[in-house]
Amino acid sequence: MLVNMRELLADAEEKDYAVGSFSVANMEMVLGAIKAFEELNSPAILQIAEVRLKQSPLEVIGPLMVAAAKNAKTPVAVHFDHGKTMEKIGQALDLGFTSVMFDGSHLPLDENIEMTKAVKALADMTNAAVEAEIGCVGGSEDGSEDIAINCTRPEDAVRFESETGVDALAIAIGNAHGNYKSTPKLRFDILEEVDRLTKVPLVLHGGTGITPDDFIRCSHTGIKKINIATATFDSVEKTVRECYNENSINGYYDLQAAEVEGAYQNVKKHILIFGSDNKA
Ligand code: 13P
Repeated sequence: MLVNMRELLADAEEKDYAVGSFSVANMEMVLGAIKAFEELNSPAILQIAEVRLKQSPLEVIGPLMVAAAKNAKTPVAVHFDHGKTMEKIGQALDLGFTSVMFDGSHLPLDENIEMTKAVKALADMTNAAVEAEIGCVGGSEDGSEDIAINCTRPEDAVRFESETGVDALAIAIGNAHGNYKSTPKLRFDILEEVDRLTKVPLVLHGGTGITPDDFIRCSHTGIKKINIATATFDSVEKTVRECYNENSINGYYDLQAAEVEGAYQNVKKHILIFGSDNKA
């Protein structure tokens, strides 16, 4: 069933686990993700980022994501990731997304706060949840920019929470989008401080390549939403490649099944690490 992201994060807070937010690009990835959510009886989030709309137009993939969430046996929120423009954020809300992110992390804090408040006012009209970001997560969602990591200052998180009232806050603690060049060293000292000083559920972007131990530690230190994108895209591609190598693809529908399987396997793996299985 389609639910508000706020509800999922509140349950994760109460039961001390993290909800996976899985990026999707087509119907096969949506079906693979939902299969994993249902099989593991897990609440979860389907998301797409604004930079990905050139490959997957919002007016086409958005209704598909919302319909899949509505039909799912488990609670699923539909989230617009890294929203940059009011136009696209508004379009996602009109399509029935139950959560939107405004990414003003590149802006001065005052401007980020003002823009986030404007997005919150818009999202309030449909009661959708709002995520924002402070500090800079490294890389970029589509790998097109090499953004340097700039860790969140705990005092900024306190001010941001009190002035915007957002439902979720993405922080930068040494994490980056895409595949890491070496194993990331997360700044748990910063995470602990932000968690101690704020009540808002925290979000970890750049999930691909973070170790299971670090995911688990994050999930018990205020991180209630974890974003996974690259690992699922890589898993789909690898599964398809392996099936071709084994000569198990004979025709289009075998290819489609391999894509669904690749997404399913990666989503399942992460749900088990995040501890959201059997929490639906
Ligand atoms: P990865 O591509 O590193 O998994 O990051 C996902 C993400 O944070 C999307 O917002």
